[in-house]
Amino acid sequence: MKLIWTASNNLPAAPTALVADCCAVAEGLPIPCCIYVTLTDDRDIREINRDKRGIDRATDVLSFPTVNYPAGVTAAHAERLIRQEYSGDDRACILGEIIISYEHVKAQAKDYRHSVDRELCYLLAHGIFHCFGYDHQTPGEKKEMRTMEEKALELAGITRDGASTAIPADDQLIALAKEAMMRSYSPYSRFKVGACLLSEDGRVFTGTNIENASFGLTICAERAAVARAVGDGVTEFSAIAIAAEDAPPWPCGACRQVLSEFAPGLRVLIAWGKDHTDQALLSELLPHGFGPKDLP
Ligand code: THU
Repeated sequence: MKLIWTASNNLPAAPTALVADCCAVAEGLPIPCCIYVTLTDDRDIREINRDKRGIDRATDVLSFPTVNYPAGVTAAHAERLIRQEYSGDDRACILGEIIISYEHVKAQAKDYRHSVDRELCYLLAHGIFHCFGYDHQTPGEKKEMRTMEEKALELAGITRDGASTAIPADDQLIALAKEAMMRSYSPYSRFKVGACLLSEDGRVFTGTNIENASFGLTICAERAAVARAVGDGVTEFSAIAIAAEDAPPWPCGACRQVLSEFAPGLRVLIAWGKDHTDQALLSELLPHGFGPKDLP
């Protein structure tokens, strides 16, 4: 899912794009969606809280869903309603707007004794699930919303106590690759690709293809995901999911070689269309591959 940041400067480096994708996957969003997000200060959020809700005080996060969900229905089961929010400019359905006070983020991070990034991700996930139709008026609703938030944050590798996270399942990897595909920069081929690389320790790293007016400089989704992971110091992988819109996205030769450097036995899952999938081992896709073992 795409987050569109408005009027935000000094954005922290928190993995907000991954959190948004993980919320979309946890919910099972039926179609491409986006949410507008503004990071601001207490003075500004207080003004918005007063003007829009008649509450004259600052708060941590405000959400304004665009969809009026029927009672008990959330985004996963409201495709018809969501489709009405389609924006041609964003090429996605706008599910709402989230305002976050960074002053509150910093103060709450201190109170909870965790990182500012974790607090920002938590508030973002909270705002996103409001935009999916969740609320916390009753204890039951609150529990359900909290469960969804934890499910999404765990998939993003963000846990409250650093407890070991569950290894994501293949269908989650494919769903994450499909979400990453939405951020494809492919104005020349219009062939969107998304990838989701799974590290041995259960973390996920997404990437998308990045084209260039100098065509040969295009970076494939798989290599973009590898760059993200290796840049974070992660070099051991067990699977990659690759998604495209209409054709089976088997990785190109260059990507097979780059993936093989780190994980010759990688499981490669591909997905295209509404629900077509296939899989192979990288060693089948690149037999007799040249690698570190072949250098003296
Ligand atoms: N592409 C990938 O992202 N991964 C592959 O393994 C094959 C091709 C992208 C590159 C380019 O932006 C578009 O697909 C068409 O070749």
